[in-house]
Amino acid sequence: MSFTVLPPRLPTIGPYALTTPCILAPMAGVTDRPFRQLCRQLGAGLTVSEMVTSDRNLWHTAKSKLRLDHRGEPEPRIVQIAGGDPEMLADAARGNVEHGAQIIDINMGCPAKKVCNKAAGSALLRDERLVGDILATVVSAVDVPVTLKIRTGWCENTRNGIRIARLAESLGIQALAVHGRTREQRYTGEAEYDTIAAIRQAIDIPVFANGDIDSPEKAYRVLQHTKADAVMIGRSAQGNPWLFREIVHYLQTGEHLAPPSADERLAVMQTHLSALYQHYGDYMGVRIARKHVGWYLQTLPEGQQARARFNALETPEQQRAFVHAFLSPICASM
Ligand SMILES: Cc1cc2nc3c(=O)[nH]c(=O)nc-3n(C[C@H](O)[C@H](O)[C@H](O)COP(=O)(O)O)c2cc1C
Repeated sequence: MSFTVLPPRLPTIGPYALTTPCILAPMAGVTDRPFRQLCRQLGAGLTVSEMVTSDRNLWHTAKSKLRLDHRGEPEPRIVQIAGGDPEMLADAARGNVEHGAQIIDINMGCPAKKVCNKAAGSALLRDERLVGDILATVVSAVDVPVTLKIRTGWCENTRNGIRIARLAESLGIQALAVHGRTREQRYTGEAEYDTIAAIRQAIDIPVFANGDIDSPEKAYRVLQHTKADAVMIGRSAQGNPWLFREIVHYLQTGEHLAPPSADERLAVMQTHLSALYQHYGDYMGVRIARKHVGWYLQTLPEGQQARARFNALETPEQQRAFVHAFLSPICASM
């Protein structure tokens, strides 16, 4: 079977070429450095950091410091910034470049609350003049490529994604990710891909299609329908970082890659746990591990009950031993 869905060449952002057409979406509280590294190893062609506030006064907090730390990350390091004030965003972009960011992504896609009493995230989409000010100011503030993440528009009646996309391209934005929902929809309903297809037609910079892509077939269908340059995956990668290589394999061959063996699942979970303890320290690492392990367990037999027991554990040693004891019988039975 010959598959033509893969773009003839992988998209580039400035000097950086994607290694696969599958991107990990930025998710605050999820796509930290350990998870990004794991997804890269398992086939993500690009990963975007969790958003960093544009208010540099908040960068000394423990949370921001960890978000600004990119040690050991593969290139290109993309940092997403969020805020509503052009000068503050430009300053945040410069600061992140000083900290090692190689691409700056601007968040106009997530229904974030206000930042610094100003609209931020997808709330900005209502004010196209402000969008233009922000994009122009940030692009001229840094020497690295600037990308943008948007939704299809503000609401059903104001689906201004195409206008924003044209504006972004004209102001020097180098790639655009589009979540197929309006701001008003938040996460309800289903993502639609017609607007993404229209945006792809309207501009020449790389376009990444995002929203509800949860399987190799869905990735294939979305790429075919939109002609986007890559898919961007968020929630479906939680507890399933193997999805990236499964999509890449399917796009290349039209065939399904075997799911990870129980042995591999165990090894990846243990590696992920170690990375979390190292990144956050034991106390925070144990707490953050509960979220990720919960996602890993949810698809396994008796995973829900196991999750409740796992959440009661208090040390890395207990968590490691639990994961080993829970998965070893599954490994042995396969
Ligand atoms: C927990 C969570 C955190 C998110 N944080 C961000 C963020 O920081 N920046 C952003 O642009 N989008 C954020 N998003 C939106 C995702 O990047 C993505 O656009 C959305 O989840 C739709 O993709 P999906 O259906 O593949 O999950 C977040 C989504 C979730 C579920």
